[in-house]
Amino acid sequence: MIADENSGEKPLRVLIVGCGNIAGGFDMTRGADAAPLTHAGAYARHAGFRIEACIDPDRRRLAQFADYWRVPFSATSMADLPDEPGAFDVVSICSPTALHQEHIEAALRLEPRLIFCEKPLTSSEGVSSRWIRACRDRSVTLVVNHTRRWDPAVGALAKELRQGRWGAIRSVVGHYNKGIMNNGGHLVDLLLMLVGPMELIATAGVRYDHWIDDPTFAALLVTENGGTPVYLSPADARDYAFFELEVVCEKGVVRMESGGMAWRIREIEASKQFKGYTSLGESSEREGLYPRAMSRAVSDIYFHLVEGRAIGGSGEQALEAQRVCQILLDAATSSYAANACREVRGHAE
Ligand SMILES: NC(=O)c1ccc[n+]([C@@H]2O[C@H](COP(=O)([O-])OP(=O)(O)OC[C@H]3O[C@@H](n4cnc5c(N)ncnc54)[C@H](O)[C@@H]3O)[C@@H](O)[C@H]2O)c1
Repeated sequence: MIADENSGEKPLRVLIVGCGNIAGGFDMTRGADAAPLTHAGAYARHAGFRIEACIDPDRRRLAQFADYWRVPFSATSMADLPDEPGAFDVVSICSPTALHQEHIEAALRLEPRLIFCEKPLTSSEGVSSRWIRACRDRSVTLVVNHTRRWDPAVGALAKELRQGRWGAIRSVVGHYNKGIMNNGGHLVDLLLMLVGPMELIATAGVRYDHWIDDPTFAALLVTENGGTPVYLSPADARDYAFFELEVVCEKGVVRMESGGMAWRIREIEASKQFKGYTSLGESSEREGLYPRAMSRAVSDIYFHLVEGRAIGGSGEQALEAQRVCQILLDAATSSYAANACREVRGHAE
């Protein structure tokens, strides 16, 4: 429990919409001491927040969630909430992506100070853009959970790259699966953080590995600043979860493994075998700090609301990632369709 951030103020009141895995489920089977990976887990550990209400149409899930996280009010629909604008400071939207738009709209009617929405923000760039504007017009801060924005190890790498600790970046490889708009969105947001804007060169190898409308595929991009190649390397979600990153630099190679649970670095050194050559030394490990990310996100939300500090994970940043993913998706699926047509024509001939 983080107590020192709550200087006698009343806790911020939280509503959680959708009581599944990322809302709290992932933490309900982890040890009480384990770092929280969910919204409820992070709020529950922070003395500056109190979860006041939760919503889920699945009565069994709702009851288990409310019981585990000791939520005083629970209901099967947002329509069942008392008509009391300003009753919640924060609304966490953790429902299925197709419902985010509807739930942002309902959340805005409640007049909270901040909406913490799961990624992807909505199912399309145009819709996301509209709701980002709606939040801005009502002075409601919108934060999107691209979780690695709050991973201290990612922040440290971004700083090191900026400050030249690794020299020039030669190439970047991001491995992902489970859809370009879904887990690919996390990867593209991470790449935008680390290397900035990119242009698409080519896509290949479309595979529908989890979602019927969101494939996983390979892509080659180059950074706008310097033309550094960035590869999106696909895996198949039916095999295992895969989210890793390799940054090949002038002075070494940095690898984020298992979604940020571990890091491995290799630095340039004089070759032990070949006199006059340089090579990469043995790999050393850096602690994976991903488990701190949700606590950090919630702490940043607290300081944003209480002290007016700036906060990352803005709607605009999420929209930029969604825009890039959509460009990749359109390119990949149109060439996939063109190839399929060629194949069909080939069979007919
Ligand atoms: N940031 C991350 O790393 C991360 C990880 C997992 C999921 N997500 C995102 O979080 C969202 C939820 O994913 P999940 O894996 O927790 O799914 P989930 O299926 O475990 O949970 C979704 C919950 O929403 C409930 N729900 C359905 N209709 C609802 C409604 N009308 N009102 C309120 N609740 C409703 C479902 O009953 C379910 O309990 C998705 O947008 C997903 O992309 C993000």
